[in-house]
Amino acid sequence: MRHHTTFRQLEIFEAIARLSSFTRASEELYLTQPTVSMQMKKLTDIVGSPLVEQIGKKVSLTEDGRELAQASREIFAILDRYTMSVAQRRGLEKGKLKLMAITTASYFAPRLLGEFSKLHPGIEVSLRVTNKEQVLASMADNLDDLYLLGTPPVEIDVVATPIMDNPIVVLAAPDHPLAGRPNLTLADLAQERWVMREAGSGTRKAIETLFHEHGLEIRPRLELGSNEAIKQAILADLGISALSCHALTLHQPDQFAVLDVEGFPILRHWYAVYPAGRQASLVARAFLDFLLTQRNGSSCAPIGNGACCAVNCGKKG
Ligand code: PGA
Repeated sequence: MRHHTTFRQLEIFEAIARLSSFTRASEELYLTQPTVSMQMKKLTDIVGSPLVEQIGKKVSLTEDGRELAQASREIFAILDRYTMSVAQRRGLEKGKLKLMAITTASYFAPRLLGEFSKLHPGIEVSLRVTNKEQVLASMADNLDDLYLLGTPPVEIDVVATPIMDNPIVVLAAPDHPLAGRPNLTLADLAQERWVMREAGSGTRKAIETLFHEHGLEIRPRLELGSNEAIKQAILADLGISALSCHALTLHQPDQFAVLDVEGFPILRHWYAVYPAGRQASLVARAFLDFLLTQRNGSSCAPIGNGACCAVNCGKKG
């Protein structure tokens, strides 16, 4: 039988079996009724026994017909899977990935993108590093595939997947009087001179929320719009600050003192986000899967030569 049956015949038979009607099958397949009948007759001849029984207009399957219907469904499912996997390979061979990362995510996003690119060298990747306002604008205009954020927006309906821990630690210059002192309280810190990120920064909001929850407030001595500028200000003895551990990547372990303060590190996460209405592209989904496979290995940011921020900041447990 397999030498003579055509896919076309199986397709027609599958439609008749599913719709219990020659007429509806011919309509669905845009074929004339005589064509459908002729192909069914050929198929029946090849099998050598009736596949359908017709009572009036109603078509039902014989036992041989039911078996062939099942076989046809399996064949078409296998073909569908094959077609999909070819399309996926093609898509991953030369797709595009447009990524947007909020300020602080720029410390780890390029590394992850680099590793992903090595796995899929044909994919063209672009990364824009920007602030919250622009992230929202880009989401509203559907411009990028995926966003790496510390706080999923509430203004837009999104799908947000946590991909990595984002602990925030308090930093001081190594010779700062509080450096090395155990069990500092938030009240101790509220007295200090603070260097803070700009209003609207996720890092700043997390710090302010923690102090606020304890009935305290920080009055920043200096506001700076970048983590790098804040680190320079700390080293220049302009004050203390709190930053994501990821901002310490590439620094020597002893370049900053990580203070031991109640409530710190503030345990936050990084999220990969896309608008709920948007179907994630094949490449974006592949990148998201890649991020999730990386998740376990990146719960704390390395400082300098492999030392871990979570160790230095006295994270308990
Ligand atoms: P940011 O970081 O402080 O650069 O805005 C994002 C966040 O932590 O939410």
